[in-house]
Amino acid sequence: MKKLSARRRHPLAALVVLLLALACTGGLYAAFAPASKAQADETAQSLAIDEGKKLYAVGCASCHGTGGQGTTDGPSLVGVGAAAVDFQVGTGRMPAQQPGAQVPKKKVIYSQAEIDQLAAYIASLGAGPAVPSEEKYGPEGADIAKGGELFRTNCAQCHNFTGKGGALTHGKYAPTLEGVDPKHIYEAMQTGPQNMPSFPDTTLSEQNKKDIIAYLDAVNGDDTVEPGGLSLGGLGPVSEGLFAWVFGLGALIAVAVWVAARTAKAKKS
Ligand code: HEC
Ligand code: HEC
Repeated sequence: MKKLSARRRHPLAALVVLLLALACTGGLYAAFAPASKAQADETAQSLAIDEGKKLYAVGCASCHGTGGQGTTDGPSLVGVGAAAVDFQVGTGRMPAQQPGAQVPKKKVIYSQAEIDQLAAYIASLGAGPAVPSEEKYGPEGADIAKGGELFRTNCAQCHNFTGKGGALTHGKYAPTLEGVDPKHIYEAMQTGPQNMPSFPDTTLSEQNKKDIIAYLDAVNGDDTVEPGGLSLGGLGPVSEGLFAWVFGLGALIAVAVWVAARTAKAKKS
């Protein structure tokens, strides 16, 4: 007895008990954590859908219908997917205000967390493209030259060769792509907003999309190296020709007036 109690009071006894307790908790955690984490994800997801549904009822249902089925003021959102919501609300196009040729970009009025909730709710109505993860639109492994080639064949007819944008028919326009978030560029290709066609993975693979985004970043980024000369908005031969007309002719006229004035003076004296 004496021996045992002596051992009990051993200074290391407390430490041993503590270590054993830690090992037990660790084991218990390992055994139960994955299950409860999955469960937590699931409840977080259904909470997000609930919150999104509330936001939707207040801000979107008047045009898109209470269940997202659409009204005369807005199309059905069933099956458009989280990517369409993230793009439309994240660029300030939605909620739309006045009717017009094209819904313009406005100040974004929802936080990213709220946009995620709206997107979760719309995605729950019908399967559609999901919001891309960062590795899909990030610069790693992208081929800028290939991106430029793809951009010229698929996008330049509307957005111009360096993505500066341009007018389309009936008061519509393809906006400049300068300063657009890479995630939103990816989503625009996935979902084809308004008059833009969509480019699903069967038309432009994930790698193709990544290359195009890297190209746009290269031509529009801060570190842009202009090929030389004045940029003149990069609008091509028409604007550059106009520049030559206005400034070139203007200079010629100025010279002519100056010569005429001098000859008139010379005659007088
Ligand atoms: C004033 C009416 C109005 C309100 C409010 C509104 N929308 Fe829209 N929404 C429209 C119209 C109109 C379009 C179609 C634009 C087009 O394609 O020309 C549209 C298009 C969309 C699209 C694109 C659908 C597709 O096929 O890709 C999404 C996504 C969307 N709205 C989400 C929302 C969300 C989310 C809200 C609330 C935050 C909202 N909208 C509020 C009128 C509205
Ligand atoms: C037929 C013409 C057309 C083609 C081709 C086209 N787009 Fe667009 N694009 C548009 C129009 C119109 C809009 C504006 C839509 C809106 O405001 O909802 C747009 C919008 C965008 C936006 C959103 C910009 C912003 O300010 O939020 C991006 C990004 C974009 N396009 C990228 C591309 C890329 C990349 C390609 C090629 C893979 C492409 N587009 C091909 C017409 C086009």
